[in-house]
Amino acid sequence: MKPSHIEHIGLAVRNLEESIRYWEDVFGLECYRVEEVADQKVRTAFFKIGDTKIELLEPTDDDGPVARFIEKKGEGVHHIAFAVDDVAAALQSVQQKGVDLIDVQPRPGAEGLNIAFLHPKSTHGVLTELCSKLEKEK
Ligand code: CO
Repeated sequence: MKPSHIEHIGLAVRNLEESIRYWEDVFGLECYRVEEVADQKVRTAFFKIGDTKIELLEPTDDDGPVARFIEKKGEGVHHIAFAVDDVAAALQSVQQKGVDLIDVQPRPGAEGLNIAFLHPKSTHGVLTELCSKLEKEK
């Protein structure tokens, strides 16, 4: 497993619209997509910076993982996502090296990506996402 680049950095925010305004006003970036990911109980907003994106995550449910993150730690960096060719193969490779997985199988994420999370207890505290384009969209 060797990632090609940082696909995105996920930031937990309390209010998506306020946070979009911050990135647009202060950084001069343009939000090109807002999307709800029901599976993860979040609304997301995306900005491009070169090959990398900023992914804002606003909880849609007090019971979701991002809501719990904000409750414990406040707003801030939630996860780092690495682009890999094949998420399933990458998962197998890191698992063989003793890394605990949150997702044993890839699942659909925002922007039509195939995604999976590694458990932060075995990644030195960094919630790590692996992602790749879905097979048909490559
Ligand atoms: Co992400």
